[in-house]
Amino acid sequence: MHFLNFTPIAVLQLTLFSVLHGAKWTYTGPDGEHHWYKHYPYCGGTFQSPIDIKSELLRFDSNLRPIEVQNYNLSPNEQLTLGNNGHSVQISLPSKMHISSLPHRYTAAQFHLHWGSSSRPAGSEHTVNSEQYAAEMHVVHYNSDKYPNMSMAVDKSDGLAVLGVLIEVGEFNPAFEQFLKFINGVKYRDQRVQVPGFNIRALLPARLDEYYRYDGSLTTPPCYPSVLWTVFRNDVTISRKQFLALATALYSTHAQDSAPVPLNANYRQPQLTDGRVVLVSFKEGRGLHGTLTVTPPHTRKRIIQQLLVGDLADLADEGLYQLLPSGSEKLHAGKKKDLKNQQSETLAKSKQQMLNPSLWTKSQTNRYVGKFGLADDTLCYVSLEQRVFLRLRQSHTENQMVQALRDAVLPELNLKSYLDCKSDLALPTIRHILRGRPTDEALELDRSLTQALMKQRKTSTAIKPNVPVTKSSSLSPATVPRKPQSLGYPHPWLLPMEWED
Ligand SMILES: *[C@@H]1O[C@H](CO)[C@@H](O)[C@H](O)[C@H]1NC(C)=O
Ligand SMILES: [Zn+2]
Repeated sequence: MHFLNFTPIAVLQLTLFSVLHGAKWTYTGPDGEHHWYKHYPYCGGTFQSPIDIKSELLRFDSNLRPIEVQNYNLSPNEQLTLGNNGHSVQISLPSKMHISSLPHRYTAAQFHLHWGSSSRPAGSEHTVNSEQYAAEMHVVHYNSDKYPNMSMAVDKSDGLAVLGVLIEVGEFNPAFEQFLKFINGVKYRDQRVQVPGFNIRALLPARLDEYYRYDGSLTTPPCYPSVLWTVFRNDVTISRKQFLALATALYSTHAQDSAPVPLNANYRQPQLTDGRVVLVSFKEGRGLHGTLTVTPPHTRKRIIQQLLVGDLADLADEGLYQLLPSGSEKLHAGKKKDLKNQQSETLAKSKQQMLNPSLWTKSQTNRYVGKFGLADDTLCYVSLEQRVFLRLRQSHTENQMVQALRDAVLPELNLKSYLDCKSDLALPTIRHILRGRPTDEALELDRSLTQALMKQRKTSTAIKPNVPVTKSSSLSPATVPRKPQSLGYPHPWLLPMEWED
């Protein structure tokens, strides 16, 4: 019988093959994107790319500086390797090329493209309000301040930075012609040719100051969530003829294969946003969005770490209340905010409410005016905690809350846009953590949190949400326990956990 051939040695060989050579993957058929996760588990995980860049995800961030690139103008004397890897056409880049405007130096490694087919010129990976472009270029860089090379950086949360360029069919593009004219030299998989250097900057749009920024992943296996994405707002064009050259010249199979498979439509579908926001460097234009007041990014991480292992007495004095559900912030001294900021926040919030009328019922009446600003930021932690909860349910180890938090929450706090996203840590979660720390300080803190919660409940009895279902619970109605919603308490999936003393 067939399965008898499947000996441990065969399994081992298969595993080794996957590890050493990478398992076969394609964009369609039995090895298509919905099956990637079987050999590449990250592809089924969180923070995946590409995404649909929707207006409602956008948050203006005034800290986003224009992208600056160095040594992009290569001389024709420098030879670059143009190659067909069976999934894309790729050009290697010299390590003197880098991005200089990010917190670390990100050194260029290669660029490649994703495109549609001759019958369907729509093959970009990122889409903007569901609009797919003809093609997309990715200039891949790695964090050379922290890692010696691409392979060491590729699976680190701050390992890669990719510049994404959306490509439309229109005017002829002389810069793209610099490598497209050699494309027939790499028709088949694993073929390579040397091509003269040219000005890589000319492949990018004129404006490098307008872009979308979010944390995501490689869009191909192994899909590591290690990419700081920059997708430029403005597209570039290539001519119809140039697009057709790209879409028809290449094969994903080797020259000796008897059944050649054309290489086209090599794009991945948009992935779930997983509570992420997309920061934008520009304000004007369609789909105007509210202003994000960016908080010190390390505050939240520091507080949670302190909660897990640090000095609890200190924590009670400072930061903890910043993590409590909106409403408890009244406990700590009134924070001032200038009128202008308040107005723009109100504007942003009413826009959000229009987009998601059921989502902000609570924040509308129980408005938060502290430093941590918009109540809509609860989303970030809501999704994290929901994931922790689901994980606990799956593993039937509900008492391992703290470990689950360590595993699921803390690594993700390294992700850059998560750090900018300000939100609540649910009170029951905090108290579960505290119960893992049986000290006097923990008891003290627990007591004062109980008082905080009582006050909050009193305040919120006056509030009547007109739609008693949060967005988070509607995300996965099958798994979220349907309990009566406690007012002023935004985390229904944690309700079954006992927290009444
Ligand atoms: C990358 O760097 C590591 C650590 O220095 C080294 O072991 C590895 O061989 C390097 N890989 C490549 C492809 O250069
Ligand atoms: Zn790519």
